[in-house]
Amino acid sequence: MTSILNSPRRLGEPPPDDQLDPAERMPADELRALQLPRLQWTLRHAYQNVPHYRAAFDATGVHPDDCRELADLAKFPATTKADLRDNYPFGMFAVPQEQVRRIHASSGTTGRPTVVGYTADDIDTWATVMARSIRAAGGRPGHKVHNAYGYGLFTGGLGAHYGIEKLGATAIPVSGGMTARQIQLIGDFRPEIIMATPSYMLTIIDEFERQGIDPRSSSLQVGIFGAEPWTEQMRLEIEDRMDIHAVDIYGLSEVMGPGISQECVETKDGLHIWEDHFYPEVVGPLDGVPLPDGEQGELLFTSLTKQALPIIRYRTRDLTTLRPGTARPGMRRMDKVTGRSDDMIILRGVNVFPTQIEEIVLRTPGLSPHFQLVLTTAGRMDALAVRVEARPGAPADRRDAAARELVTVVKDTVGVSVSCEIVDPGTLERSVGKLQRLLDRRQR
Ligand code: DLL
Repeated sequence: MTSILNSPRRLGEPPPDDQLDPAERMPADELRALQLPRLQWTLRHAYQNVPHYRAAFDATGVHPDDCRELADLAKFPATTKADLRDNYPFGMFAVPQEQVRRIHASSGTTGRPTVVGYTADDIDTWATVMARSIRAAGGRPGHKVHNAYGYGLFTGGLGAHYGIEKLGATAIPVSGGMTARQIQLIGDFRPEIIMATPSYMLTIIDEFERQGIDPRSSSLQVGIFGAEPWTEQMRLEIEDRMDIHAVDIYGLSEVMGPGISQECVETKDGLHIWEDHFYPEVVGPLDGVPLPDGEQGELLFTSLTKQALPIIRYRTRDLTTLRPGTARPGMRRMDKVTGRSDDMIILRGVNVFPTQIEEIVLRTPGLSPHFQLVLTTAGRMDALAVRVEARPGAPADRRDAAARELVTVVKDTVGVSVSCEIVDPGTLERSVGKLQRLLDRRQR
């Protein structure tokens, strides 16, 4: 498979310096000096206006005045999804309801959704960081952006939308679904940029091919993909089949939505965190103890400017490593999030992430990127089956060989025994948004 980097693209250049936001040009020490008063303001704002934070700080014996330097943040209690759920729907809001201009909620697989709110200033901040993200991905004023993130309570659609407009680009608010129509609109409107979950992008690419259109011939030059984990191997798959740059965008509703960090198209080396608004920490996933940059752990965020829903040390459950900035030298990067502690499968004592399987599926000739993981109970043990579609056109004898290869490579590299079932192309359900890879069929 060839990499897009060998392909001459018009987009993919870094933005000129004079188009960057001032914070993007700040050296790290200047940025730190900006962060401290913002952090102190956030802690006071949360303590004074949100009963949950007042109680949690008091119970830990800390007061906002105890934050004299950035490292002091580690003394403050972390916030979890359960805290938001317990204060459902609006108990975590720090401003009177008349000042809340918008509400979003994350669906959550079980129980109450988590509800988040934004003031007018918050929406403007969000649009600013989102515009910055699209620009870092190669977007410029005047571009047309096909936005296939879902519109609604999910932050993806509207979050991206406001950023597209703020950048001075043209928003095409298609949302997810009705995939045949997406192909028609891409053909007719000729957007330069597409925004979607990576799994939905695969659905779109398949639909191009189903209609007999070469996806590489489309007007698209850059895809901004996020909202779910995806791997380097998936980047190559999308870049190769679509002839676009595929870059990663990260975010979560509790902290803002999409646009908390973004990969720069010219480096594609992890995601720069927009640290003038979001302060990251990495902690041990089990003990919550802060880890130095360069070590992998659970990512925490503290908002620095948010009014309606200040969030202190939010435990994202996402696993990553913080690294020094490159394309934006003052801002730290995070590695691609290839796993959430929630998605981890513990199979006979071995930790398995769906992304590990994704890498292997995509490297196995004859297999398509469409696969499911099915957990069942076999006797007293759990068993994991990888159910994967053959690539269209793959010869029948390749299927058996591919299944054997996959089982061997998973055993050798991940360290667990799995079974593999190859199914016909087009048989597994397609994603229109966030993909659910794991089917848990275990008997409780
Ligand atoms: O998924 C916000 C978003 C929309 C991000 C569009 C990017 C693009 P939530 O629905 O609250 O918000 O889900 C947040 O999704 O904690 C991660 O586990 C996962 N996630 C988001 N972006 C990425 C990414 C949106 N680039 C949760 N890579 C997060 C891996 C991601 N996982």
